[in-house]
Amino acid sequence: MAAKRVKFDNISKTFITGNNRRVNAVANLNIEIPAGQFVCLLGPSGCGKTTILRMLAGFEVPTTGHIFIGSENVEKITPDKRDTSMVFQNYALFPHMNVYNNIAYGLKLQKLSTSDIKTRVHKILDMMNMEDFAERVPSQMSGGQQQRVSLARALVMEPGVLLFDEPLSNLDAKLRIHMRDEIKKIQMKVGITSIYVTHDQAEAMGLADIVIIMKDGIVQQAGSPIEVYQKPRTEFVANFIGRANIFPGKVIDKKGDITTVEIFENKFDIPQKISKAIGDNVDIVARPESIIISKDVFRGKVTKSMFMGAYHEYEAMIGDFKVEISVSNPRGKKSYSIDSTIDFSIDVDSVHILEE
Ligand SMILES: Nc1ncnc2c1ncn2[C@@H]1O[C@H](COP(=O)(O)OP(=O)(O)O)[C@@H](O)[C@H]1O
Ligand SMILES: [Mg+2]
Repeated sequence: MAAKRVKFDNISKTFITGNNRRVNAVANLNIEIPAGQFVCLLGPSGCGKTTILRMLAGFEVPTTGHIFIGSENVEKITPDKRDTSMVFQNYALFPHMNVYNNIAYGLKLQKLSTSDIKTRVHKILDMMNMEDFAERVPSQMSGGQQQRVSLARALVMEPGVLLFDEPLSNLDAKLRIHMRDEIKKIQMKVGITSIYVTHDQAEAMGLADIVIIMKDGIVQQAGSPIEVYQKPRTEFVANFIGRANIFPGKVIDKKGDITTVEIFENKFDIPQKISKAIGDNVDIVARPESIIISKDVFRGKVTKSMFMGAYHEYEAMIGDFKVEISVSNPRGKKSYSIDSTIDFSIDVDSVHILEE
């Protein structure tokens, strides 16, 4: 199958609801997704993720803008003719058909010969280690197995773009991780352009080449998982991707690539070039693992202390400012109990100054 690029060119979608209220579900979306990439649309419920997928699949008409799949403007192409397949949260399998017929369904609609259909269905069943399930009907399978059939049914169509709308939300935590890894392996094997909607940041980080973080219909940031985690553009992104301490700071010097900031009367040289001026207030993102236990910098009072095995999680108060601290591999390290005093600092190489 030939993976295709996808381009959203100034796409907006406004819904008019019954009482004549306008809902701006998506605003000014401009994104180009190279062929073969795995992209995750990540954001809270209601931020417009499903609407973007539905416009791409042809189930909704954009209010403004154009969508391209490959080099083709898909405006006039009906959903059944678009080069996309969708995997849904609720599997959407035909309950009375066995696995083989569920997967073969779309190929039959395309009027392929029985022998071609057989070859393609068995190729997919084999790739997904599901040959033994061919004769079963959905009610004879677990949720995870049904979701694999629904993925097989999308893949067998050999679409240019594969769409996923929260496909793992109905599975328990352990199975979700297992299926996530499986989806990633299959996507890498097939090399298909994939757009995957989720509100689960761990899922997005694990799967994506590019994460697109949305809020209220607007893209907040797009980048690799490393980029969006280490260099969040806004406080929203910093808090949505993982946990973040946002320290209030002031720029007191700028020299080349080093910015000196003051945080609670301590000075730090941070290796980041910023456009803000000396004297400006800035917010500094420090992840819990970027806080280091160290004397003579910040002094806090421990308000939470939880040993988690691989790491020890603390909360400490500097006055009324709360700091989350994660000490990795705590074995053999001093532990701090609630109400005790803890001295710590920030690792200047792994913090990030927000520019907005
Ligand atoms: N058919 C519709 N009519 C009116 N409003 C809609 C319709 N579909 C979605 N919306 C609204 O558009 C916004 C985005 O919805 P959606 O794309 O489903 O978000 P998400 O998938 O991120 O949870 C929400 O405010 C939702 O209520
Ligand atoms: Mg949705």
